[in-house]
Order: sequence, then structure tokens, then C-alpha cells
Amino acid sequence: MILRLFSVCISFVLPALAQDGGQLFTLYCAACHGADGNGATGGAFPPLAGSPWVGGDPDRSVKVVLHGLHGPVDVLGKTYNLEMPPQGAMLPDDQVAAILTFVRSSWGNQAGSVTADTVKTIRAAHADRKEAWTAGELLKLHPLPLERTALTHLISSVYPGKWDRLPDFSTLKAESVEEEHDGILSVTDSPHKDSYAMLWQGDFQLPADGEYNFLLDADDAARLIIDGELIVEVSGSGPMDGSRSQQKKATLSKGSHKLRVEYLEISGFEGITLGWRGPGAKSWSWLSDQKAASGTIREPIPIEPANGRPVIYRNFIAGTTSRAIGVGFPGGLNLAYSADHLTPELIWTGAFMDGTAKWLERGTDNNPPAGENLVTLAKERFLPKEARFRGYKLDKDGNPTFSIQIGGQFLLDSWRAESGALIRKLTVTGSALEVPIARPAGVTIEEAAGKSVIQLSPGQPVTLTYRWK
Ligand code: HEC
Repeated sequence: MILRLFSVCISFVLPALAQDGGQLFTLYCAACHGADGNGATGGAFPPLAGSPWVGGDPDRSVKVVLHGLHGPVDVLGKTYNLEMPPQGAMLPDDQVAAILTFVRSSWGNQAGSVTADTVKTIRAAHADRKEAWTAGELLKLHPLPLERTALTHLISSVYPGKWDRLPDFSTLKAESVEEEHDGILSVTDSPHKDSYAMLWQGDFQLPADGEYNFLLDADDAARLIIDGELIVEVSGSGPMDGSRSQQKKATLSKGSHKLRVEYLEISGFEGITLGWRGPGAKSWSWLSDQKAASGTIREPIPIEPANGRPVIYRNFIAGTTSRAIGVGFPGGLNLAYSADHLTPELIWTGAFMDGTAKWLERGTDNNPPAGENLVTLAKERFLPKEARFRGYKLDKDGNPTFSIQIGGQFLLDSWRAESGALIRKLTVTGSALEVPIARPAGVTIEEAAGKSVIQLSPGQPVTLTYRWK
């Protein structure tokens, strides 16, 4: 008898306890967001159907429901600037959970369910909050999930190794291969930080016949190939800050195309940005988790010699040791001197350095030389172990002399630029010294023809002229 009663009770009580998210939605949300989730009163209110605000991390939508939302918010390309009243006082945790579980799985939305525990935790964490959230606050805490891309059957492969340009992938064996169901290119799919290549392959679904624009940027190198044809390439090494990004057009037909993206990370930061814009489209669609700032290319901040004097740059320079001193001479000749290896390391022509990457976005990364014709003079230390770097001095024209102490004697290494060449003067004090001289391809060293070691005697400086071939 007791059992019977109990079961009667249950059948009575259950419908009220088991919160029907759909019904609760109709009661508490539909007036504003529409029974079909498309926003009531012809879209005056923002939609929940297809809204990235209700996808991904559930915390974002739980917070909106508990405390409301006010101020400007972008939903599916439209900006609203309204007020959603808080619902938290009215709705217990399990009802909020049921409503959001319903919203996240209705009208094509495909996000996971929300538990009463999640709601409870968030409610407790913000018990003192009085005011509604703003979109800005929430996006900082819970960024929107990425939209699905036009890529399907995307597969990424990772190849660890050291290359200075994109390798020939046909000769390589992938360390790991993964399916990327989100259709998004991301270097976070690699377990490595430095020294690896990646390959993405997938089907690229295009909505119409016509001319397509592609934007590619990478740190370091990348290449987009569609149906076996190279479309756009970023080569060499360097930052992904827009300074090396490439845009190309291609005429393509509606339907499925084979997409292939090759990528190389040498060292330092890594990333890839790939965007496309179909015929008539106003904005870029992104195939990567990183996006260029709406196609705006940031202005470079050149670091350059001024008033006919060299400029000194004491910061990390890509391709040099960590204690490299950069010198940009007037006339577009540049030097990086290594205080670690006690020798000139790198020389190049054209622009000296670009400060944008360093100062704006990528505080800790190595900045690459901004110019061209890079010639590596040394990758190692030649001088004896007891040799020490003793700093540098600038002469009245701003030209540097690097000073090295070896026991009781000094080696002075002075540099200046003159009519398209870098002039280096070596002076020794104390006793005679042998100084090895690197002779890389790419430059001629006019004096000391062919010699790889210079004999220095006190009071008899030797001058070397480095001229690009
Ligand atoms: C009185 C009208 C009203 C009610 C009721 C209401 N909302 Fe809102 N909701 C709004 C408005 C207005 C905004 C946009 C606020 C702004 O512009 O800052 C919004 C924004 C949202 C957003 C973020 C933007 C978006 O479209 O994805 C979510 C999520 C949301 N509401 C969910 C709900 C849920 C779930 C309920 C029911 C529990 C609900 N709302 C009840 C008016 C309402």
C-alpha cells in the first residue's frame, strides 16, 4: 500500500520536477527571443538560434540569464544595444539549466547540456553582483566559440624537424595525424613549440562560381594549394603581424575543392592566418583560429638611422645570439654584433629593423631583420675562452667600436659604412693576436684576400671592407 501511494505521488510530482526546458523557455524567454529562437518582433530582439553566445562555454549564457545583459552586443552580424532584465531571482538553478540545455540543442544549435551544478556555482560566485553584464565583460571571460568553417574532412599532420624553408612533404613521414572536426587550422594542434612542419588537407566547399580572394599570413612560412595549384605563399621566416602577409585572387567554381596548406615553424612564436572572401562577400571568412584584423595591415614602425648617424638596437634579433647588438648604418647597411660570440654575426642591406612586432604585439619574440641580403658571418665563437666582451663605444659620428678583453690585451672591432660597403677596422693592444675571419658567400672581403686568419700586431690596425656581391 505504501508502495502504491508512493508511485502515485511520483507520477503526480514528476512532471513538475523534471523541468521541461521547452516549456520554461516559452514562459520566460520566448516573449523577447521568439518561439522559434529568431528574436521576437521581427528580430528587434537578438536571436538565440545560431547565436554563438549560447554555444561553447555554457558560463557565458548562464551569466546572461542570471544577471541580464546590457549595452551593445553583436549577434550574428547585427549590433543590439538593449537591456535584458535579470532572470536569476525568478528561476532556480535547475530551471536555468533546463532552459539553457533546451536553447543549446534547439533550432540547429548543437552545444552540450548545462547542469544545475554549473548554474549553482556561477550563482554563488556572483552572489553580490547587482548590475547586468556587458558583452565586453563576458567576452573577456568567455570568448565566443569559433564559427564552423567551409572546410570538411580536415586532417592535420605534424612533422618535427629543422628546416629553414618549407620541406618537401612527400619525402616525410608524419609523427601524428589528426582529424580536425571543427574545420579550423590551428598550430595548437601540434605538440611541438619549435622546429616542426605541418600539413592540413581537406575539402573546401565554395558557395558560388567566381573570383575568390585569399589572405595568408604565418610565423614562419606557409603555402596554400587548391586542387594542386599554388595560390598564395608566405616564405622565409618572420613574424605574423601583417608585415609579411600575402593576398592573392583565384577564380574557382562552386562546389568542393581539395585544399592543402603547408606550414613551417622555425622558432619563437608560431601561428597561421588564412582567410578567404567569395564573390560579393564584404568580409573575410577565416579558416584558421587566428585572424588578421579584418584585413587591415598594420603600419610598420621602422627603426632607422637618423640625421646621418647609425642607430643602435639592443633587443632580440631573430637569427642571432641573445646578446646581439644591432647597428643600422646610414645608406642601408646593417650589422648585428654578438656579445656572446665576440664577433660580428649577421650583416644585411636595406631596412634595419621593424619595431612594430616587438612593441605592439609580440613582446618576447625575436624580431627579424627588416631588410634583405642577409649574410651570416659567424655562428660560433673563435676567440679563446678567457676573452670577455667589454661593451662598445660610439665615435663622434655614432659609429661603434666593440671592445674585447683577452687577458691583458684588448681587441677593438670598429665598424662604419661607406659607399655601399661596411668597413671594419681591427686593432689590438699589448701583443700580437690571430683573429679568424669568416668568409661567407654573398660578400667579398677586399683586403686580406682569401685569408681566414688575420695577424694583428699592436699599432698596426687592419681594415676589412665587406661588399655585397
Ligand atoms: C524582456 C526581454 C528578454 C527576456 C525575457 C529574455 N531576454 Fe535574453 N536578451 C534580451 C535582450 C534585449 C538581449 C540583448 C541585450 C543587449 O543588447 O545588451 C538579450 C540577450 C540574450 C543573450 C545573448 C545574446 C544572444 O542573442 O545570444 C542570451 C544568450 C539570452 N538573452 C538568453 C535568454 C534566455 C535563455 C532567456 C530566458 C531565460 C532570456 N534571454 C530572456 C531580452 C530578453
